[in-house]
Amino acid sequence: KDIRCVGSKDYSAIEGADLVINTAGVPRKARPDGTFPSREELLTINLKATNEVAAGITKYCPDATIISIANPLDAIVYTLDKRLNPPKNKLIGMAGQLDSGRYCSFVAEAANVSMENVSALVLGGHGDTMVPVRSSCLIAGIPVSKFIDDATLEAIETRTRKAGGEVVGLLGFGSAYVSPAWAALEMAEAIIYDKRKILPVCAKLEGEYGLKGMFVGVPAILGKNGMEQVIELDLTDAEKEAFKKSSGAVRKTCDEVDEMLKNL
Ligand code: LAC
Repeated sequence: KDIRCVGSKDYSAIEGADLVINTAGVPRKARPDGTFPSREELLTINLKATNEVAAGITKYCPDATIISIANPLDAIVYTLDKRLNPPKNKLIGMAGQLDSGRYCSFVAEAANVSMENVSALVLGGHGDTMVPVRSSCLIAGIPVSKFIDDATLEAIETRTRKAGGEVVGLLGFGSAYVSPAWAALEMAEAIIYDKRKILPVCAKLEGEYGLKGMFVGVPAILGKNGMEQVIELDLTDAEKEAFKKSSGAVRKTCDEVDEMLKNL
C-alpha cells in the first residue's frame, strides 16, 4: 500500500495510530555567544509540549506504542509514562541507537575498517554522562581493544558523549535531526516487522540494573509487542560505576519533573 502523508496542527491526525513517534519540543540551539543549552535546560518548555502530546494520545490513540525522541530524552519519556501510564512494553525512548551509531562510526574511523563491522552499545541517560560500553564493542566479533589503544578509545568515548553538542555547535540553528530520524526508524521497523531486534532503547526498569520505576538506556528486544524484553549485561566495574552515575543524573532530572508536573 502506498504511504499517505498528512500534515496537521490538530491531534485528530493521529486518530487510531498503532505507533507514535514523538518529537514535540524545542531543540538545543547555539546561543549568540557560541555556548548552547544542555538537553536538561530544555525541560521547562518541553514539559508543556509533552503534556499536550499526552493529552492528544489519550484522546485519539490510547493503545499506540510510543517512541519518544524529544529532549531531555529520559525525562520526557518519564513524563509520558506519568501522564499515560501505559504498559511498559508500549513506551520507549530513542537515544541509545543514535549514540551507538556515533560511537560505531568513530571506532570504525580509528580502526580504519568498515562501519558495518562495528557493533557497540551506548547505555544510561542521553546526557553527557551516557555510557559507551567498551566491553560490548566488537569489530567483526573481535574485541575493540585488539584494534585501538586505550587512550584513543577514551577519546572516542568522550567524543561520543558530547557528539550531540558537537552537532549543535556546528549546525547553528538547532540539533541533529537526520541521524535521530534514522535511529527512530530502525526502532519502528523492528516493531512493525516483528524483527525481535536487540537495540539500545530508553526503557522502564523494574529491578533490572538495580533500578526501579526509572527510564534509562539499556539493550532490549524490539518486536511486535514493542519493548519485549530488557537484556541485562555483565558490565565491568568501571562501566557499572559509570552507569550508576548516569542513572543518578537521570533520577535528578526526573525529580525536577515530579515537582514541575504538580504545577502543570
Ligand atoms: C542529539 C540530540 C538530538 O544527541 O539529543 O543529537
